[in-house]
Amino acid sequence: MRVVRICFVAAGLFLTLGLAIPRAADLAVRAPDLADGKAMAEKWCSQCHMISPGEKRAGDMAPSFTSIARMSATTEMSLRAFLQTPHVRMPDYHLTRDESADLVAYILSLRDQ
Ligand code: HEC
Repeated sequence: MRVVRICFVAAGLFLTLGLAIPRAADLAVRAPDLADGKAMAEKWCSQCHMISPGEKRAGDMAPSFTSIARMSATTEMSLRAFLQTPHVRMPDYHLTRDESADLVAYILSLRDQ
């Protein structure tokens, strides 16, 4: 009987730890870094997108980041979802969560500019 009880306690502990660890990782998400987001946009996105407000360039095959930021359908969630799924006309960057968060924060920061 005692062994059974110890097993239950052990199983309970494992369960609690198993649930607690991913949650702790979620909480540890750092604040997005706009400067990093902009640097990545310059490096990876600027060949197709106009990535900052005053930019003017002929032939815009992709929407500018400012116009994306201003679309009413654009939210942090929608951008994250977009960046995490592959698109025919856009390379798949396999962004990490942090990279994606920085890019999304940078794009959204253009909304009021
Ligand atoms: C090879 C060209 C190319 C590159 C490089 C590129 N994009 Fe795009 N992107 C496009 C095109 C084209 C569209 C329009 C997609 C469509 O209409 O199907 C688009 C659309 C988008 C949209 C969605 C706009 C909407 O309508 O909701 C976002 C957000 C976006 N790109 C972000 C990025 C980011 C961030 C990067 C860099 C990490 C990037 N793109 C790099 C071509 C590109």
